[in-house]
Amino acid sequence: MIRKIEERLKELIPTKDETIFEAGRYSLLSTGKRIRPLLTMATAATFGVDPLIALDPACAIEMIHSYSLIHDDLPCMDNDDLRRGKPTLHKVYGESMALLAGDYLLTYAFEVIANASILGREQRLQMIKTVAMRAGAPGMIGGQAFDIESKGKEIDEEALLQMHYGKTAALLTACLECGSLAAGYPPTDLLQSIGLELGLAYQYQDDLLDATSTTAILGKTAGSDAAEDKPTAVSLFGIDGTQERLAHMNQSINHKLSCLPKNGGELATVISAILQRSS
Ligand code: IPE
Ligand code: IPE
Ligand code: MG
Ligand code: MG
Ligand code: MG
Repeated sequence: MIRKIEERLKELIPTKDETIFEAGRYSLLSTGKRIRPLLTMATAATFGVDPLIALDPACAIEMIHSYSLIHDDLPCMDNDDLRRGKPTLHKVYGESMALLAGDYLLTYAFEVIANASILGREQRLQMIKTVAMRAGAPGMIGGQAFDIESKGKEIDEEALLQMHYGKTAALLTACLECGSLAAGYPPTDLLQSIGLELGLAYQYQDDLLDATSTTAILGKTAGSDAAEDKPTAVSLFGIDGTQERLAHMNQSINHKLSCLPKNGGELATVISAILQRSS
């Protein structure tokens, strides 16, 4: 699946030489783990269709993720210099072009879903609504706004959950929802709750890796959260406390997956790999 995703991303992004396209390629075609498109396609497969049916919406979600990272790294946000083992986009192309490249990938993502003619019109409409809501103020943008307003503050567990559900879990949930829609099924509460819990676990892991791993392994600057005085799972629960919570979440996610068709099938395989990640 990953090869198909890389090929399709390359195909979708124009090879024109204006700076905006060059900047878009710089970020989108760099070496991400591609967990969002993999989750989208694996969900479609679990619900019994050829995962390639979900390829374009999967790539569209990766575009939105890529845009979110470009903006997340800006000096006015997390102020990071390194991403996916390379200088961040604004370090190479400047802040204005980084803002615009993010805007480009976000808007283009919706065009890609709208044009995915292998899917029915109603399916595309539902996907556009889902992705817009999950990526927008009720989801990712709301979480990012909360994150920015929490800088330098102590927050409680409830607030941390609200932030992580927004900034990370919302878009991961959209992947499962779009995979289900591609297979012709409206997303169930069970599937959504797997997405939200996986997203929370994913951000806990991210916070843990930021505190415990190295820049070389992560391809982004380790220790960046503490340097920017960000409240994280680690600042609230400590390393052991975060690991304990992660172990509980892993169990709960596995239990929920076993209630899906084929005991979770391809989706369970992808999620299990994600939960064991080290970068
Ligand atoms: C990083 O996402 C930002 C978070 C939401 C934690 P990934 O860990 O998926 O980053 P890439 O796409 O592999 O670079
Ligand atoms: C980023 O969270 C979430 C989004 C980009 C929406 P982080 O700020 O923790 O991600 P990294 O650590 O920079 O990848
Ligand atoms: Mg951030
Ligand atoms: Mg960041
Ligand atoms: Mg982080």
